[in-house]
Amino acid sequence: MIILNTSTRRFKVKTYRKTHIHNAKYCKCWIDCIRDTGIKMKNVLLLLLVQLTRDISGLDNGLALTPPMGWLTWERFRCNTDCVNRPDDCISETLIKVMADHLAADGYLAAGYQYIIIDDCWLAPDRDAHGRLQPDPVRFPSGIAALVEYVHEQGLKFGIYEDFGVRTCAGFPGSEFYMETDAQTFAEWGVDYVKFDGCNSNPQDMDLGYEAFGLFLNKTGRPMVYSCEWPMYQQFAGFKPDYAAIQRTCNMWRVHGDISDSWTSVSSIISYYGKDYNNMSLYAKPGAWNDPDMLVVGNFGLSYEQARVQMAMWAIMAAPMLMSTDLRSITAQDHLLLTNLNVIAINQDPLGIQGRRILQINGTNVEVWSRPISPVGSFAIAFLQLANHGDPTPVSVTGRDIGLTASGYMFMDGFNNQPMGTYGPDSPVKVVVNPNGVVLFRAKPI
Ligand code: GLA
Repeated sequence: MIILNTSTRRFKVKTYRKTHIHNAKYCKCWIDCIRDTGIKMKNVLLLLLVQLTRDISGLDNGLALTPPMGWLTWERFRCNTDCVNRPDDCISETLIKVMADHLAADGYLAAGYQYIIIDDCWLAPDRDAHGRLQPDPVRFPSGIAALVEYVHEQGLKFGIYEDFGVRTCAGFPGSEFYMETDAQTFAEWGVDYVKFDGCNSNPQDMDLGYEAFGLFLNKTGRPMVYSCEWPMYQQFAGFKPDYAAIQRTCNMWRVHGDISDSWTSVSSIISYYGKDYNNMSLYAKPGAWNDPDMLVVGNFGLSYEQARVQMAMWAIMAAPMLMSTDLRSITAQDHLLLTNLNVIAINQDPLGIQGRRILQINGTNVEVWSRPISPVGSFAIAFLQLANHGDPTPVSVTGRDIGLTASGYMFMDGFNNQPMGTYGPDSPVKVVVNPNGVVLFRAKPI
């Protein structure tokens, strides 16, 4: 991926418009044709469209150089559209404004949580007379552009949700046949981030469709983080995703089914990452991230120990940190955990290398994960116990067993930054790992 700064990118888009004005016209015509001729023609037309626009990249937006951090409605507030009976918890401009206020005022923005993203269920049931998306008029009476302005005034960035298929997962109008119009609408509203879901579409169309939407986003000239669900749906359908193409196209991409507010869900996602299917970890880099889904810390389902595991492992996995919790009622303990700058520093490490499971310690349920971090030669290491057999487990390995082969390292606790001593490759590293618990530290060469 070539990262272009905004002005270079605008130039490229301008050049594209000038040299391909003819094609661009067809491009519009194709969308109409696709609309008229229906699904059978769609693959052929998308292929032509993508081929003729190959000279601008689907991404090249210079965004998400570290994993995006923010807040997203979905896991905690779902598709609650009942503002009559649950006015404080329904998907509405009021909810977004209140959460934006908390993000800005309660230390989340200062810790790096920058994006506030509305997931599904913001839309009106139909497009407007010009075929443009419109928000539900009762729940978003001021319109999205005004809401974006409010969010920007708080120093935050605004994200929105759409779907590659004919309808979103919750049944609202999808982008199929309208991708160019929708990308343009989002740009005009001042959107900074688009989550593009894949319900109600054919996963076989996604290689072309996700790329096409990326091109349309790029063509608007407005930098928008492009969050995809492309590999998740293809895996569900039994295909092997083309991670190289996904990495070129999207800033982040979901690799697993939806997270829910439970340890079963969080631990199964971590186990999935442990297997590193299709070597997916190798595709993470600045600007392009595997996405294991939201942080559910602060909700109902995790113990404090389990919440620490989610934070530590999302940091090791170089995962986007998108909270989905009620910031009005979060406990002080969970607030502190979510804003722990030491853990966030591991997550946001500028080298952008995703960590991997490197060892399963014989005779125990403890596994060791390692992520190369800066300064070069350093690692973030997690000793993790996903099992819950009641008793904390002592383990002992050597530095060499966990990939620490330099002559000496200084260890610092990953949560509180306290020094933990110095170790050589043959020193015993002894830790005690709680059930459903984690010991996180940084190892820096000395
Ligand atoms: C899918 C996605 C979720 C969420 C819902 C909304 O299930 O994977 O993250 O966006 O749709 O309907």
